[in-house]
Amino acid sequence: MPDRHWIRRRLHDPFLKKAHREDFRSRAAYKLQEIAEKYKLIQSHSKVLDLGCAPGSWCQVVRRCLGPKGLVIGVDLLPVEPIDGVTLLQGDLTDPAVQDRITSLCPGGFDVILSDMAPHTTGIHHADTERSAELVGLVLDLCARWLKPGGAMLAKVFEGAEYPALRQRARTLFRFAKTVTPEASLARSREVYLLGQGYHGPTSRATASQAHPQPGSPRPASPGAAPPEAEPAAGTRANPDGRLSSRSATGPDDGPPPPPAPPRPSPIAPLRMGKRKKA
Ligand SMILES: C[S@@+](CC[C@H](N)C(=O)[O-])C[C@H]1O[C@@H](n2cnc3c(N)ncnc32)[C@H](O)[C@@H]1O
Repeated sequence: MPDRHWIRRRLHDPFLKKAHREDFRSRAAYKLQEIAEKYKLIQSHSKVLDLGCAPGSWCQVVRRCLGPKGLVIGVDLLPVEPIDGVTLLQGDLTDPAVQDRITSLCPGGFDVILSDMAPHTTGIHHADTERSAELVGLVLDLCARWLKPGGAMLAKVFEGAEYPALRQRARTLFRFAKTVTPEASLARSREVYLLGQGYHGPTSRATASQAHPQPGSPRPASPGAAPPEAEPAAGTRANPDGRLSSRSATGPDDGPPPPPAPPRPSPIAPLRMGKRKKA
């Protein structure tokens, strides 16, 4: 049962109130909105993959940015209420059958891969950060399969001992990689977002920025996008506005500790998929 402090925080949470007013399914919408605006992540024609999309507020944000040529596919372990213009898949990203399904839905690849995936937290710091880092590691692996050259990735990570290595790996795959912490991430949360822009795959950064092969060369940053900023030393907390916080363990979406994990769908269960009409 949520404690009094949690209830009080929610009652006074401006992002929650705003989400209700603006018809977003969760306050998480404002995390993506802030980052997407600052870094010009999503263009009207973008093909976007949203991993860990339930209850769907990031899909809503993306959909509002897209024009008729854009595409958004949302994937989650949990069922998601239909969202107009969004293709939804229920399944576990670690399941190869789900990965194949994603490939078949967008064989040309994605311009942007988003991941707000969060493991069920145990309250044991190193276990939670390790599982979160595993998910982000998988997303980085899958960029090779799904992300177009020059594409962008944004992935939530629970910051822990594994994080500097993840960020370092992202730097070998993207022209720019940095840590961002949006305003809507609660100060007590230990989540940060790893942003990579200008995907070039597993080559050295120097090689990638010097060479300009035809398809495959990193796309220049969009006009008007925030310039890449220097990353502080490994282990220090970095955010675009210099906001610093010391954070304690929280649930996956800044909420209270999560309830016991719901049963995971069988990896071979049929996937619910397709463009849905609003209920
Ligand atoms: C914080 S929520 C995402 C909130 C979402 N971005 C929004 O705006 O509504 C994290 C989600 O990640 C999902 N998730 C965690 N592990 C996953 C996996 N292996 N495959 C698919 N989804 C996963 C969880 O089911 C959960 O719904």
